[in-house]
Amino acid sequence: MTTTPMPAFPTGFRWGVSTSAYQIEGAATADGRGPSIWDTFAHTPGRIADHSTADVACDHYHRHREDVALMAGLGISAYRFSIAWPRVQPRGTGAANPAGLDFYDRLVDDLLAAGIDPVATLFHWDLPQPLEETGGWLNRDTADRFAEYADLTAARLGDRVKLWITLNEPFVHLSLGHATGVHAPGRFLLLDAFPVAHHQLLGHGLAVSALRARSTSPVAIANNYSPVVRYGDTDADRAAALAYDALHNRLFTDPLLGQGYPPGFDPAVVRDGDLDVIAAPIDVLGVNYYNPTGVRAPEQDSPLPFEVVPLDGYPRTAFDWPVVPDGLRDLLVGLRDRYLDALPEIQITESGCAYDDAPDADGRVHDPERIAYLDGHLRAVRAAIDEGVDVTGYFVWSLLDNWEWAEGFTKRFGLVHVDFDSQVRTPKSSYAWYRDQIVRR
Ligand code: FCB
Repeated sequence: MTTTPMPAFPTGFRWGVSTSAYQIEGAATADGRGPSIWDTFAHTPGRIADHSTADVACDHYHRHREDVALMAGLGISAYRFSIAWPRVQPRGTGAANPAGLDFYDRLVDDLLAAGIDPVATLFHWDLPQPLEETGGWLNRDTADRFAEYADLTAARLGDRVKLWITLNEPFVHLSLGHATGVHAPGRFLLLDAFPVAHHQLLGHGLAVSALRARSTSPVAIANNYSPVVRYGDTDADRAAALAYDALHNRLFTDPLLGQGYPPGFDPAVVRDGDLDVIAAPIDVLGVNYYNPTGVRAPEQDSPLPFEVVPLDGYPRTAFDWPVVPDGLRDLLVGLRDRYLDALPEIQITESGCAYDDAPDADGRVHDPERIAYLDGHLRAVRAAIDEGVDVTGYFVWSLLDNWEWAEGFTKRFGLVHVDFDSQVRTPKSSYAWYRDQIVRR
């Protein structure tokens, strides 16, 4: 870690933390919440590394006041959380469940009282299970259902949420959820999963207009990006790198920014007018970044046009993800160079790392690797700003150790350690470090 002081950030830069409903809330059946695809998946034997479920998770649903106090202690100016669709519409259709919305109403008011901007994501992968039973995102109708849910939510919270995010990482929901089956809903469709890309994007576009009708707050989407590092130098390696880049980095962003689908990746389900709906202007592009991806040509009989290979030569997190802060700078500069004036303002909506943090004999949790990680990534953001990229915020993933999807409780991403038996929260040394970065602004 460099010892030179962290450079200053522009006035008004948004400092935040990020979480998602399913990973922290628990209270799986409280106040009329319906089941989501993640409840079904987590309760299916063999799907989750430690055989856990998120029925309780961080019990944030009952402890949100304590968690808002932790945020206030950090001095953040914004909190990115997600709203559980199955709390708002337990069956994914029909009238809103007022008790479900009440929870977010209280959370939003508590955040505002603490001087923290509520940033709400509408879909962080927890689709109501009844919608999955009619095809989920493979079914075009789900896009309309999503817009209806956006409307109900904005009718209640649209006067106070300061930034709306429609979808979280539609690429990951496509690839892990529907192509390779590692995440809920556990479908293994490989390239036949493409309708899921288009219907998510269509749902996004329809939700943008539903949100605009109810709220004057800016609207965004949070995409996951991963710069491609090509292994090998053959034409086949080059083609593989281009294909992976199109899939991971362009499939969702090209059509959002009015450029249609990348060549060769046109989902067959597109109808007239869809691309205009999808290209409805957004105010902010949310960028989630964890690491670059190594890619080379696939074996001959591979069903995919690329092969993903581990990146050598970098430190690694407990998830075995390589730590490459410069990848974030490259990504931001690359987005600007690719989309030029079509690119809106950017906020980093997720950035963080998992380590095996545990309390020491004195009960303190030291996580120097996380401090080094965040330090490096913040400097990378600052470097991109210096190169003229309009980046206006940074949200650490995550406030709390939480339930990390198929990894269960085995991956700790928090600035705050959580003992999942007692629910005791212990701020780690990275919490104090992040607070000091914010205080200095
Ligand atoms: C992102 C997800 C988030 C969390 C982090 C580690 O892909 O959006 O929920 O799982 O990865």
